Amino acid sequence: MSIVISLGGSILAPDLDSSRFSEYSRVLKDISFEDDLVVVTGGGEMAREYIDIARGLGSNEAFCDSIGIEVTRLNARLLISALGEGVFPEPPGSYDAALRAFSVSDVVVMGGVSPGQSTDAVSALIAEYVDAELLVFATSVDGVYSSDPRFNDDAEKLDRISPDRLVEIVMETEIKAGAKGVVDPLASKIIERSEIPTVVLDGSEPEKVRSVVLDGVHEGTLVVSESYEGVLG
Ligand code: UTP
Repeated sequence: MSIVISLGGSILAPDLDSSRFSEYSRVLKDISFEDDLVVVTGGGEMAREYIDIARGLGSNEAFCDSIGIEVTRLNARLLISALGEGVFPEPPGSYDAALRAFSVSDVVVMGGVSPGQSTDAVSALIAEYVDAELLVFATSVDGVYSSDPRFNDDAEKLDRISPDRLVEIVMETEIKAGAKGVVDPLASKIIERSEIPTVVLDGSEPEKVRSVVLDGVHEGTLVVSESYEGVLG
């Protein structure tokens, strides 16, 4: 089975600490004994700091995105270091390169690939490319809410939603200035068209990622079509 795991930079590298990479690498290795794996790493606070500096120096947004991509790829390289043997030795810089890497290696770690999106979209697209049976977003929130909980006290956490409901929620969140959706809009559209079962969960504890992939157990939000009858609750 092919699995794609998106590790948000804010949970993998909230600050630069090797233990987060080691903890995640242990879990990912265990998963890789059972499944073929593509892991997509985010940039987190470090990416935002670099981008702010570049913006302050007058760089345009596309250039800032390129800087963000470099940081996501640095995090990918750190995770590759932690994983050691058996992982493809460098983060592929495109979807084609990722597919080539995945054809020779059971574990591929990558970061961003092109400006104008985030690693959420990369994760959804590579999941589509490899026909993943499961896409997991390990993020800094514990699931998808009916509306943005930072702005609405009555926002409810949703256990299971359809992909088109995810698109609606993400689009509503995005209109508010300064708000960032739980996954980015492009990612939600790709999930909608591919219908790959997707789980959004709190990734602060790597064990939660192990549970959902190996045992089908999670406390996040399952995004699946209404007819889904798979093992994930
Ligand atoms: P992230 O995916 O990490 O963005 O990419 P994020 O929204 O800050 O997510 P967290 O906090 O890590 O969970 C960091 C930046 O890199 C650029 C974008 O500017 C993004 O904001 N990027 C990333 C791209 O332009 N293209 C990509 O394919 C990936």
